[in-house]
Amino acid sequence: MRLFLDTANVEHIKHGVRLGVVSGVTTNPSLVSQEGKVNYKKLVQKICSVVPGPVSTEVISQDVAGMVAEARQIAKWANNVVVKIPAGLEGVEATHILASEGIQVNFTLCFSVNQALLAALAGAAYVSPFVGRLDDIGEDGMTLVKDIVQVFRQYPEIKTEVIAASIRHPQHCLIAALAGSHIATIPYKVLLQMAKHPMTDAGNARFLEDWRKVMGDVKNI
Ligand code: G3P
Repeated sequence: MRLFLDTANVEHIKHGVRLGVVSGVTTNPSLVSQEGKVNYKKLVQKICSVVPGPVSTEVISQDVAGMVAEARQIAKWANNVVVKIPAGLEGVEATHILASEGIQVNFTLCFSVNQALLAALAGAAYVSPFVGRLDDIGEDGMTLVKDIVQVFRQYPEIKTEVIAASIRHPQHCLIAALAGSHIATIPYKVLLQMAKHPMTDAGNARFLEDWRKVMGDVKNI
């Protein structure tokens, strides 16, 4: 499973790329807004220059013509830009038009297997089931990821990749990987949490303590 960062924060993205584990980025209007009143195009272009892989960014329009017009502009901003189109009938139609023009679409705000199937049939490059937001309303978001992966696997002609989104904690990430999700897009905080384990910290402290007792501060053997 690949990892994308779900953020518009350039410093966090640079860190993830430096670690060698982040191969893409997803943003949305809320995440971009967290960076202040920025120049949207410049921010996305900056992110695209920092990340080696796909960078998803969302349209604001809600009607088909508006989504398509916006997406066509966004698609020109960088070679690795992917346009996020919200689920719904308008989104399906817009996705079909854009995909037929060779524009990569991330079909977002997906909350059902049927929406994911429509995304795949319309030609979306990615579909983003929102796990945490389903958990928030008392459903099991990861079941949606598992079901989409299972359905897509039965039809080799489906090339749409599943991005487990709205990830809230490392356990979500683990289950997405076990489910066979192609990608999980995770908040920076979750990336940091994934590297941590109290036993690693305790073990490391013990090793250093044992070493120093005998070797002092000598580093080279
Ligand atoms: O990728 C989708 C994500 O940005 C939504 O996450 O935590 O706002 O539900 P959240």
